Amino acid sequence: VCNAGIIGVGAYLPDRVLTNDELQKMVDTNDQWIRTRSGIKERRIASPELATSDLAVIAGERALADAGVAPEELGLIIVATNTPDTIFPATACLVQDRLGAVKAAAFDLAAGCTGFVYALATGSQFITSGTYKKVLVIGAECLSRIVNWEDRKTCVLFGDGAGAVVLSPVPAGNGILSFTLRSDGSKGQLLSVPAGGSRQPATRETVDQKLHTIHMDGQEVFKFAVRVMGKAALEVLAAAGLNRSDIDYFIPHQANIRIIESAAKRLNLSMDKVLVNLDRYGNTSTASIPLALTEAVQDGRIKQGDHIVMVGFGAGLTWGATVIKW
Ligand code: ACO
Repeated sequence: VCNAGIIGVGAYLPDRVLTNDELQKMVDTNDQWIRTRSGIKERRIASPELATSDLAVIAGERALADAGVAPEELGLIIVATNTPDTIFPATACLVQDRLGAVKAAAFDLAAGCTGFVYALATGSQFITSGTYKKVLVIGAECLSRIVNWEDRKTCVLFGDGAGAVVLSPVPAGNGILSFTLRSDGSKGQLLSVPAGGSRQPATRETVDQKLHTIHMDGQEVFKFAVRVMGKAALEVLAAAGLNRSDIDYFIPHQANIRIIESAAKRLNLSMDKVLVNLDRYGNTSTASIPLALTEAVQDGRIKQGDHIVMVGFGAGLTWGATVIKW
């Protein structure tokens, strides 16, 4: 009996920094509003020649190098994303080719900002079943491409980036101890990109009406996030036979510092146990959790034996959590 564990991490962020002051020149907003209402100070924007697969490939290469795993060893690549390069082929297949992962299956996973947690849980099933020995899970986004840069309610929130992990069998009692994945499609309209799919294919009108950009009821999504995050974390802890005081690090999806603080309060956690990158990167959707994880592993905060709880929420609506023994 084995668990799936993370044996390597990697991240990539575009160089270009977009500050709140710059946004102030684009829409009717200001640094003070953005910082106090969301916690975001700046975000990264991919240069025009880059797409999601480019970010994903670099993060993936770094995770493989960190794990000491060759691309040919991979049995599966899952790319969680809301901003695939194209409707098809899957971004994961572009990544598979660029990495030279000649034996790997590859698919994209769409679960909004919960995509990374969903992909981690999905990848772990192929490990624990014995199907594959090495699985690459990537969260990658170019959200700047689907943001309406004239809508101050959304354009200040999002950023681009990618994070990746390599999964491999680890002895029972380590790695992914438990997870929960949930959905409520009845509230899907709270957060969507309405056009560009089969319901509303691209026409001049859909482009003019900016229906290919993120539409969001911020307040309702906020309330939903606050409701589910602490609860999901407590569920996975209980399933692993742990409680709140066992958490060494909490990695929430990074959408709003006020959402993160309220989840931390519910879990009775001091903020030094909560990983935050929202201030520097904004909401990077599926990349937010693996980016924060990679940083904390690389700077030595996360140590062997630590219990890490990750919680995601987002479009779908979806939410999910996992607890990992590092
Ligand atoms: N600058 C200045 N003023 C603004 C801005 C801005 N960028 N954006 C909105 N305002 C104004 C509004 O127009 C409103 O003014 P009004 O009262 O005159 O109408 C006022 O500020 C308050 O707006 P609210 O929407 O009530 O502000 P709120 O405190 O709810 O914060 C926010 C908005 C930051 C969007 C918050 O609701 C939030 O973070 N929600 C969660 C969003 C989220 O998590 N999304 C990601 C989901 S993950 C995924 O799958 C993509």
